[in-house]
Amino acid sequence: MPHDLVIVANRLPVDRVTNPDGSVGWRRSPGGLVSAIEPFLRANHGVWIGWPGGTEQNLEPFEDDGLSLVPLAMSAADIEDHYEGFSNGTLWPLYHDVVAKPEFHREWWDSYVEVNRRFATAAAEHAAKGATVWVQDYQLQLVPRMLRELRPDVRIGFYLHIPFPPTELFQQLPWRRQILEGLLGADLIGFQLPGGAQNFVRLVRQRVGHKTHRDLVYLPDGRTVRAAAFPISIDAKGFATLADTSSVRERAAEIRTALGNPRKVFLGVDRLDYTKGIYARLRAYSELINDGHFDVEDAVFVQVAVPSREQVEHYRVLRDDIERLVGRINGDHGQIGRPAVHYLHTSLPREEMAAFYRAADVMVVTPYRDGMNLVAKEYVACRSEDDGALVLSEFAGAADELRQAWLVNPYDINGMKAALLEAYHAQDSELKRRMKAMRRQVSTNDVTAWADNFLNTLAEQHEVRQHR
Ligand code: G6P
Repeated sequence: MPHDLVIVANRLPVDRVTNPDGSVGWRRSPGGLVSAIEPFLRANHGVWIGWPGGTEQNLEPFEDDGLSLVPLAMSAADIEDHYEGFSNGTLWPLYHDVVAKPEFHREWWDSYVEVNRRFATAAAEHAAKGATVWVQDYQLQLVPRMLRELRPDVRIGFYLHIPFPPTELFQQLPWRRQILEGLLGADLIGFQLPGGAQNFVRLVRQRVGHKTHRDLVYLPDGRTVRAAAFPISIDAKGFATLADTSSVRERAAEIRTALGNPRKVFLGVDRLDYTKGIYARLRAYSELINDGHFDVEDAVFVQVAVPSREQVEHYRVLRDDIERLVGRINGDHGQIGRPAVHYLHTSLPREEMAAFYRAADVMVVTPYRDGMNLVAKEYVACRSEDDGALVLSEFAGAADELRQAWLVNPYDINGMKAALLEAYHAQDSELKRRMKAMRRQVSTNDVTAWADNFLNTLAEQHEVRQHR
């Protein structure tokens, strides 16, 4: 059945898992994209097209917990070349400031084109006449143009959840022009920050030669495309309500007891990704113990590392490095029954996350580069008593809005140590002042405001096109 609202994302919001007894189940997919778009689609009737994980080929559209989902199959070769290859071996590092070296391979590109075409075809099949199709993220940048060729009647929005790189870095991409032209198939292209939108418009002018003015691109066929910033957010009310339930409060108290009731609990929650700066953060923390600022009676660090992209070599090496470091820190500083760093390599359900946010005095979010980082916003939303400190990287998109965090440069270990220490010692009044302002920011600018803003701007942009 065709839909008026179609979400197209590389991944479905649920991942297909085979249980030990051979039965098939569904598990929530990791990452910020799913946490933002899922509550939005739940509130608006529509369909979500995406890959369900794995290589199963014969999958039919299905409903999961009130969501209409259309699974798009990928073969082992698609996964290797489109997903692990071009998406996560080329674009991911390139768009994150080349924190790791991007690799350029022609066969990865060919697969990216082919898989994008399949997504565009599926979107064209499921969109009703004049529908809104909202394409998500870096894995699908060619879809807008391909879809426009198939279905000129639909309204197309594109949103990039990760940073859009500086022009100097983007230019390295052998297929830079195709990517820019692929995106220009949309009526509206959304970025996390104004800088990303500006980089994009500049590149379009320089590399494709279209006329531009501020956030508008004028195409030779008469269409106008807008490129602007829409900082993404979370279901702030949902998190705040959840964090205030008695079961989450009790669980938070239980967690603190299990940790040995230290004076302060530090917390990190990240997908296990090299952009997240987990290693450097733990080093900074361990140096504070080394330097005698506190011991395991005073403070513990809980690091939740959510498994991610485990077939990609870089991610495997990173996991080994981090786990070796955690072992060393605990060997040097832990006591029997009292590790200095509690390390969990797992994905936790929302309710358990809320309990951890409640239990933590200092939330440490120190990526080298991050589109937004929704964990920072989730922590803020859960601090209903206006306490708790947020130590946040300047290079996370969230730093633009959460100005009252302790902002750090994650490359500067001494600077991070100083900020962790300040947050550890901060007075209640100081914590309250900062947290109150951040909570106001997050609850006003929540995911509903973000989606409304994007879709209203898309509707206006589409109107402009119709009336030219
Ligand atoms: C980030 C990306 C998403 C991606 C998620 C999880 O949030 O912006 O597009 O889905 O990470 O990564 P994965 O590779 O498991 O889909």
